[in-house]
Amino acid sequence: MPILNRAAEMQEEVAGWRRRLHQNPELNFDVFETAAFVTEKLKAFGCDEVVTGLGKTGVVGIIRGRRGDGSTIGMRADMDALPITEITGKPYASGTPGKMHACGHDGHTAMLLGAAKYLAETRNFAGSVAVIFQPAEEGGGGGNEMVKDGMMDRFSIAKVFGMHNMPGLPVGQFALKPGAIMAATAEFTIRIKGRGGHAAMPHGTIDPVVIGSQLVGALQTIASRNTDPVESLVVSVTKFHAGDAYNVIPETAELAGTVRTLKKEVAKSAEQRLRDVCAGIAATFGAEIVLDYDANYPVTFNHPEETVFAGDVASGIAGEAQVHRAIQPLMGGEDFSYMLEARPGAFIFIGNGDSAGLHHPAYDFNDEVIPHGVSYWVKLAETALAA
Ligand code: NI
Repeated sequence: MPILNRAAEMQEEVAGWRRRLHQNPELNFDVFETAAFVTEKLKAFGCDEVVTGLGKTGVVGIIRGRRGDGSTIGMRADMDALPITEITGKPYASGTPGKMHACGHDGHTAMLLGAAKYLAETRNFAGSVAVIFQPAEEGGGGGNEMVKDGMMDRFSIAKVFGMHNMPGLPVGQFALKPGAIMAATAEFTIRIKGRGGHAAMPHGTIDPVVIGSQLVGALQTIASRNTDPVESLVVSVTKFHAGDAYNVIPETAELAGTVRTLKKEVAKSAEQRLRDVCAGIAATFGAEIVLDYDANYPVTFNHPEETVFAGDVASGIAGEAQVHRAIQPLMGGEDFSYMLEARPGAFIFIGNGDSAGLHHPAYDFNDEVIPHGVSYWVKLAETALAA
């Protein structure tokens, strides 16, 4: 079964919403206008319940099927943008310098709204659909906040599904895998306190720049020498701040970065090694090194049965040859992981075609994706909740 006719007819309308959202990006939990837009649309579609303020600024719409009995499935989109200045030059480009929809969450929100409109019109299912619009996916854990607010129990959500666009994957194709599909993330900050002094008299100093450089090198061995090479681990130092002058050895240096893993035991041993390396380097050079380590999003883990189901739904729309069911996991993080820890479900990628990459200032969500995404959501609801 190809794209739904009605979904194709809705493309222009949904693209209009998408562009409006694109022009007005909001960050983190501060998605007030976006949430208000979503709320207004869900009410206009005739959703049976529209609840706002979940997980601070999240919105959930409940659509009951023709037959009310049956379970509830959750379908989730993210609403937040990124702190990037857009360079697309598109007529609907961000109106706010320093903020842009560079991850396509504008498209995700618009497609789920399109599906909500369709499902509220047709209601060709038993049970209920919960359309979930979350804030703060790009850091902040808005998905976690919604789960902590009791969303799953409050709406009796039995299963939950998520979708993200993927640049480089052709439009009309889908990709997923069972098990770990995206990484667990952790952030670390390392503060080195040495002894500053004259750059020409280094013997009287404890140089935090030299110590920091040793540390950057040593941290690479956590992946290359402490971890089974067939496991997945990323340790990236992404900040190194020290010093202000040509002739002064600074007193302190600060490093920071991220750790990505697909397994709990790898995450645990990486953290321990990071602590050991910091302690060892501190002892070697006589500096004081303080490490702050914050485990962040968990692994996005696709439940096997629901992954097969989501792949079958995608296959019904796109054809089996267009559905990649065993992709490599990505080492990016995704806070839909919290919803998948709370309920069984699956996360799927949808092709965005030949666009700039995610989080790039030239990125733009591809409106040609809309009928594919709307059809996926509609068929997923109608199949999971067959009347
Ligand atoms: Ni994203």
